[in-house]
Order: sequence, then structure tokens, then C-alpha cells
Amino acid sequence: MSTEYSAGGPAGAPAPGDVVLAVRDLTVTFPSDAGPVQAVRGVSYDLHAGEVLGIVGESGSGKSVTSMAVMGLLPKTARITGSVEFRGRELLGLSEKEMTEVRGKKIAMIFQDPMTSLNPVYKIGWQLAEAVLAHHDVSKAAARERALELLEIVGIPSPDKRIDQYPHEFSGGMRQRVVIAIAMANDPDVIIADEPTTALDVTVQAQVLEALRAAQQETGAAMVLITHDLGVVAGQADRVLVMYAGKPVEIGPIDGIYYQPRMPYTVGLLGSLPRLDQRTQDKLTPIPGTPPSIVSLPPGCPFTPRCPLHTEICREREPALLPALGADHLAACHHSDQLVNHDRAMEIFSTDPNAAPGQGPRDGEQGTEPDAGPDRGEGLDRSLDQSIERDLAQEADSGPAQDSGVTPGRDARLGPDRGSGHPTEEPGASPTQHPDQDPGQNPDQDPGQDRQSGAAQ
Ligand SMILES: Nc1ncnc2c1ncn2[C@@H]1O[C@H](COP(=O)(O)OP(=O)(O)OP(=O)(O)O)[C@@H](O)[C@H]1O
Ligand code: SF4
Ligand SMILES: [Mg+2]
Repeated sequence: MSTEYSAGGPAGAPAPGDVVLAVRDLTVTFPSDAGPVQAVRGVSYDLHAGEVLGIVGESGSGKSVTSMAVMGLLPKTARITGSVEFRGRELLGLSEKEMTEVRGKKIAMIFQDPMTSLNPVYKIGWQLAEAVLAHHDVSKAAARERALELLEIVGIPSPDKRIDQYPHEFSGGMRQRVVIAIAMANDPDVIIADEPTTALDVTVQAQVLEALRAAQQETGAAMVLITHDLGVVAGQADRVLVMYAGKPVEIGPIDGIYYQPRMPYTVGLLGSLPRLDQRTQDKLTPIPGTPPSIVSLPPGCPFTPRCPLHTEICREREPALLPALGADHLAACHHSDQLVNHDRAMEIFSTDPNAAPGQGPRDGEQGTEPDAGPDRGEGLDRSLDQSIERDLAQEADSGPAQDSGVTPGRDARLGPDRGSGHPTEEPGASPTQHPDQDPGQNPDQDPGQDRQSGAAQ
């Protein structure tokens, strides 16, 4: 179905490789009684036509506020600086009417809760057909046909029956797939999906991710996929941006981020992921401590109190985001060179109580400053060597570790290869929800909850 529009931005589809969204030095500050909340402190990225950029980081790192700023959805109290260009057009400073045009026709947003976007009093088919009619000059019958097609693409079983049902008759995962279908109906150039699978169980998550992938391929849209889980972006993203305390701390191609991270925080996120090559004696290694308060950030690198590699300079000066592995892989760390050539860099967050200097805080010290001196970073080589020696000794005792055929660093749930790592379950064939199951009995329905309509336009 072809699209003709000019309102809200440039008409016509962007060419492959075009920058569709250019975010530059974006900052967002909220006033509060305790002082200014520096939620976003200088985010820059380019999103190219057709690519998927994963934005990853712990809760409160500024992922959603960054995207809400792009969409013009922040409260009026927010102070925003920087630039957000959509296909060359500056979005910051547009009127609400102009932003509504952009949101409706150019950039679609998918939220964690699908009921943010669905209207509970209208049938699914009506809502989908409305989205089609809003963007295409077609008859109502053709819009319904397209609605059916879209439901099929996102994996809704028996779409001819489902099309005449209400949102409350759908499970959470199916509602999210309907929201994705509505986003497709809008023929956006950019889809921003903010934790689209967080509220769903793992099997349904895989199906929704598959639906997202289908939507992205069908529309050719570029996508920003926001999640706190590096495992979710493993099978989806081309590039990953890691955020910490309101700033990007690492950005690069997905393979570089997974196999050659250059920022200890990214290493920590990877270390807390289950991996298929993990041996039974290996524990997942959580990052100790908690993120800092963004109301009164001390000078220096905000990750210092949690970082096993920190030295004096880390306390004094916040590192800039600089090329760390070629021009397209940037990291913000004074000591990123210490992560080079260390396949076992995960060991820097070891919880081993006999850990050598350079390893993470011990049990009971979470959130506190590691107590070694300024040469702590230099201990990394030593501690890695020791841990590798330990591993080799264990392997010698118990025979060679079983070869899983999987390269280290991949999420066990998504498989070893990005291309083949997509979930393979048939949409609609979840073991937790049989396609023919009465949707009215699904436990994750919550028809009574409060909703806004139209947010995923
Ligand atoms: N309207 C607001 N007023 C004041 N502070 C806010 C507002 N919205 C967000 N914040 C603060 O901005 C920071 C970043 O929030 P944001 O929602 O972007 O985090 P996030 O990375 O999306 O986290 P999560 O993974 O939990 O969704 C948080 O500390 C949050 O409390
Ligand atoms: S080594 Fe220093 S700059 Fe790098 S992440 Fe750790 S504390 Fe920050
Ligand atoms: Mg969020």
C-alpha cells in the first residue's frame, strides 16, 4: 500500500543509509524540591533508515525521558536543550499541533503497557481501520482488509474472528501485537519501542519481539528499542547505546558491544546475563551497588563507586565518549584500554571473596566504594590471569568443558547468532496461551485500568 503525505515532515520514504533521526547533545532537567533532576545529560545519536538501535541501561538511566523528549511528550516543567532532527527538520520547539502531525505520521511509539495506546471501548478492527484510513485514501472495506492483513503479520491467530473483539478480550502479549500492527498502519519512518516486552512472560516476549521485527521489515522503519535487558536487543539490534546516569557510556555495533565491550558498566551488564557457554560452576555476576542520585551528581565518572577499575582520575573528571574500537564504537571510560584483549573481562566483577585487587566489591559491600588504592585498575591483568589459571585447573580436573558451539557473550535465551537468534516460536503458539484459549480467561487482562488513547499513533 503506497503512502502519500507531506504534513509533519518530508514526504516519501528515506533512502537506505539516510539519517532519519539525529539527536545532538540532548539534555533534560526537571525541577524538584531537592534540586534540579538531571535526567538526561547530553545524549547524541544518529538513527539510520531501516536500522535498529537498542538503548540499554538500568532503571532511571534516562532511556524513557530521552525518547519522550524526542516525541515531545515531556511535561512543560521539563527544561530541554540540544537538538532533535527528524529527516533534517528540527523537532524541539515545534508547536503541539505540529508535533501531533509528526507523532501521527512519522514516528510511532510503542509503550510497555499496550493499554496506553488502545481504546477499550472500540473493537480492535475499528481501531486498526481508523489508523489505516488516517493515512491512506482507501474505502472502509479496503481498510478492514488491510487491518486483517496487519493482524496476520503480527501473528494474531484467527484474525477474522479477533478483528471484531475488544482489547479486554486479548491477552497482554496479543494486545501488544495489536499496538505494533497499529504502528505499522501508520507507515512510520521511525518506531520507538519503550520496554515493549517488559510486562510479558518470556515466551510471549519472544513472540512480541518477532512481531516487532516483522513490523520493522514490512514498513522499512528504523527502530529505537529501549530495554534494561541486553539479552532482548541481542537478537534485534544492529547497534547498541548503553546509558548510565543520563548519559551514553558506550555505543557501537552489536557484535562489538557483546564481544569487545570497552566500558566496565557494559561489561557488568553482560556479566549478569545468562550465557549458553556458561559452565555450571560459573555464577551470574551482578553489578554491585546502585546507580547514583541524579539530583546532585559528584564530579567525575558516575560509575566510580561501583567500578572495580576506578582510579583517582575517575573521581575527578567525567570521561568523554570517545572512539574506543574504530570510529563507530565509542566508550566513556578513562581506562577502556584495560579491557582490550581480555576475553574474560567479565571477571572484573567477580564475587570471589579471595579476589585479587582489581575485582569487584565483596559481599556486604554493595553500594560502597571498593577499598583498594588508585592502582586498582592495574590489578585487572593479575586477577584475570589468576582466574583463567583457576579455570584451567578446574577443567583439567573435570575434563574439557563441553563445547556448546556458542561464542561467549550471547544471551542463552536468544541463541548464538544474531541472524538466527530470533525467537522461532510461531506467533500465537505460546505454550502459555493456546490460540484457541478463551481470551476472556487470560490472567493478564486488566480491563479496568486507566487508559489514554491514541498514544501509539
Ligand atoms: N516528570 C518527571 N519529573 C521529575 N523527574 C523525572 C520525571 N520523569 C522522569 N524523571 C526522572 O528522570 C530519571 C530518568 O527516568 P527515565 O524514566 O528516563 O528512566 P528509564 O531509564 O526509562 O528507567 P526505567 O528502566 O525504569 O524505565 C529518573 O530518575 C526519573 O525519576
Ligand atoms: S574505570 Fe573510571 S572512568 Fe572507567 S567506568 Fe570505571 S570509574 Fe568510570
Ligand atoms: Mg523507562
